[in-house]
Amino acid sequence: MITRRECMRQAALAACGLALMETQALQGLAEPGVAESAEAEIRGQGSLKAHARKRGLLAGSAVGLGPLRNEEAYGATLAEQYNLVVGEICMKFGPLHPKPDTYFFDDADALVAFAEQHGMKVRGHNFVWHEALPAWFAGTVTKENARKIMTEHILTVGGRYKGKIQSWDVVNEAINVADGRPDGLRKSPWFEMIGPDYLELAYRTARQADPKAKLTYNEYGIEYDNESADRKRAATLALLKRLKAAGAPVDALGIQSHIQAVSSSTFGKGLRELIDAADGMGLEVYVTELDVNDDGIEDDDPAARDRIVAGVYRDYLTAVLEHKAVKSVLTWGLTDKHTWLNGTKSHRQKRPNRQERPLPFDADYKPTPAFFAMRDAFDKAPSREAAG
Ligand code: G3I
Repeated sequence: MITRRECMRQAALAACGLALMETQALQGLAEPGVAESAEAEIRGQGSLKAHARKRGLLAGSAVGLGPLRNEEAYGATLAEQYNLVVGEICMKFGPLHPKPDTYFFDDADALVAFAEQHGMKVRGHNFVWHEALPAWFAGTVTKENARKIMTEHILTVGGRYKGKIQSWDVVNEAINVADGRPDGLRKSPWFEMIGPDYLELAYRTARQADPKAKLTYNEYGIEYDNESADRKRAATLALLKRLKAAGAPVDALGIQSHIQAVSSSTFGKGLRELIDAADGMGLEVYVTELDVNDDGIEDDDPAARDRIVAGVYRDYLTAVLEHKAVKSVLTWGLTDKHTWLNGTKSHRQKRPNRQERPLPFDADYKPTPAFFAMRDAFDKAPSREAAG
């Protein structure tokens, strides 16, 4: 006798399979009534994680605790398709540390428990960032106490999940060339309070908290072949070189990979050079937040948009996975239903009457063409030594 929960899980997965069958039937790829084979087509050996694992890759997704708790299909799809998760919100400074002397671990604990239950690895995101700071930060943190507050936060959180985290985004988005510094560092609150050596302090503290986690520097806007990304890549590599030269324990570079379906820029050369340079410093490379923003596509037809988005997934992943230093690919969410992109100001301004379609599963948890493009890119990638 199966439990109610298992029954709901199987119903949720069957819904995915049935939905897939509808897609394939529409595309004339399968007759109605073959849900079982359609479902099997994307499950088990057909899953993203199975195809990734064959090449030594981890396949992951950002996770929202709301949908994980409230939508059976969300958790079922996560467990079926991925072997790596990262909290979209729950491990950030503000959500974890809502008051100066109070931590809130329920959501992060639930994510780690879900991952352990399903044999998944966990990314921690993130210790030090200029966003997601708690309301008390501005009125409490000073130049005198900032080091103590930052290091105590890292030691408390890193220590709680010691041995359970595959990699931590120790510092997120520290480069902002527009701030005008020769080193390109962002004038973030942590920078203003501690100075440029906040980065080395953060990595050394994170290593002390969790000797096993791969300590990662995570950045966006370093993907395209254009002047802005060139400058940001150069500043990012210079920062990593300084940290490594100082003996700071940095193990990996996270390339966020928030990509546009339509862009005046292309990608390839700059990405390859970036990954080569990171590899040359002995760093692993992770695609940490992949999604493809389709607001630039004029055609409203979902099938047309899906085809273009899938093409970008294919081209982008083919470019990055050529290199064996790349060890994992995470999308920033698994289903279009919960993409952060629908909440951005640019989306509300440009496409007020359209929902974004940026991820491998649509709002009904049906695999999109991007799902198949990801799987194909994994299959075409050279095999590599699996991530630590
Ligand atoms: O939970 C509160 C809710 O109680 C409140 O009513 C509501 C309105 O203020 O806010 C809710 O919190 C929001 C949270 O997402 C959860 O939905 C925050 O305001 C909002 O700022 C937050 O946005 C997240 C953002 O990071 C900042 O933390 C996005 O969902 C998340 O996708 C985004 O992810 C970032 C990565 O961490 C770093 N790389 C870029 C990426 C996209 O910006």
